[in-house]
Amino acid sequence: MKHPITYILALVAMFAFFSGTVAADFEGRKKCSSCHKSQAKSWKETAHAKAMESLKPGERAEAKEKAGLDPDKDYTEDKDCVGCHVDGWKQKGGYTIERPKKMLAAVGCESCHGPGKKYRGDHRKGGQRFEKAGKTMPRKRLADRGQDFHFEEACAACHLNYEGSGWEGVKEPYVPFTPEIDEKYRFDFDKMVKDDEAMHAHYKLDGAFVGEPKFKYHDEFQANAEEGEKGDEDDDDDDDD
Ligand code: HEC
Ligand code: HEC
Ligand code: HEC
Ligand code: HEC
Repeated sequence: MKHPITYILALVAMFAFFSGTVAADFEGRKKCSSCHKSQAKSWKETAHAKAMESLKPGERAEAKEKAGLDPDKDYTEDKDCVGCHVDGWKQKGGYTIERPKKMLAAVGCESCHGPGKKYRGDHRKGGQRFEKAGKTMPRKRLADRGQDFHFEEACAACHLNYEGSGWEGVKEPYVPFTPEIDEKYRFDFDKMVKDDEAMHAHYKLDGAFVGEPKFKYHDEFQANAEEGEKGDEDDDDDDDD
């Protein structure tokens, strides 16, 4: 007779195996935030971080009325709205109305940087190797695992998803806030991506990752970046919500 602990271990291994095979691509911002503390703190102050709030009744009443929406209605579980106000809508591991995960609510890290499940381990490895031995890792490896270094398409899927925007991927449900409602809703990638208050402030990298694909304004952002606070994946002391 085998010891009961053997069975328990086998069950645990089996569970890990099966949950591994159905692994989700989006994981939520908690892991990213625990390593990249400064960016996370700065992001929290952005409109993106508060995107779910805007769907609540009474919030942004004036803007909603102008767009023909009902300011007193609760849109937080409306499938015609939620998709662009959360991470990973209709994608693996992404936010669902049935299982609304706090770490996927709002437009978080993965909405711009890509779903992190496959590349975040390389951030840890790359960072450690660089620190210990000064060895760099190619960005191409991160890109192959889903990290986005271009951003433009990701923004467009939310900001340019309305008829006549000129973006090719347009499909319903559309964004209700278009330049027709107010000029201020016109999306200008090059201008907006440089708006630190809309993205998050930029902090100095050591240079663990190198080569193409590199974001077109990466060097410019780094030249003006501040010293930031770094953390570890296992840190639990951040109050990210
Ligand atoms: C998942 C959808 C989504 C993605 C991806 C996304 N946004 Fe947004 N963005 C939103 C939503 C929703 C808001 C409005 C949030 C609110 O006020 O509730 C917003 C707001 C903004 C604002 C207005 C900020 C303000 O202060 O009024 C800017 C600028 C912006 N986004 C730029 C970008 C850029 C640039 C990208 C790509 C790098 C991007 N967004 C990616 C959904 C998205
Ligand atoms: C296709 C993506 C998309 C869908 C669908 C969508 N939104 Fe948004 N929403 C956005 C984006 C992008 C912005 C930011 C617009 C900007 O500031 O330029 C935004 C902004 C907002 C704002 C803030 C506007 C302001 O000026 O303060 C509210 C409120 C909002 N959305 C509510 C809703 C509601 C309610 C629905 C459903 C009826 C909805 N959204 C559906 C993408 C979307
Ligand atoms: C609206 C889009 C958007 C969101 C949301 C976003 N980022 Fe970024 N992030 C960017 C852009 C654009 C850059 C510039 C990329 C470059 O310079 O290579 C960037 C750069 C970074 C960098 C590189 C160093 C720096 O400060 O420039 C880190 C690390 C980072 N983001 C982490 C995060 C984390 C963590 C979150 C979530 C808490 C997050 N980002 C959310 C757009 C976004
Ligand atoms: C275990 C810690 C850890 C986790 C978790 C982590 N990162 Fe990183 N990340 C790093 C390190 C270390 C670097 C390299 C920093 C340097 O060069 O100084 C890095 C670099 C980056 C960069 C810059 C890439 C470039 O072009 O050089 C971005 C953007 C970024 N991370 C975003 C994210 C996002 C988004 C997540 C969550 C999906 C995430 N990180 C998760 C540690 C982490």
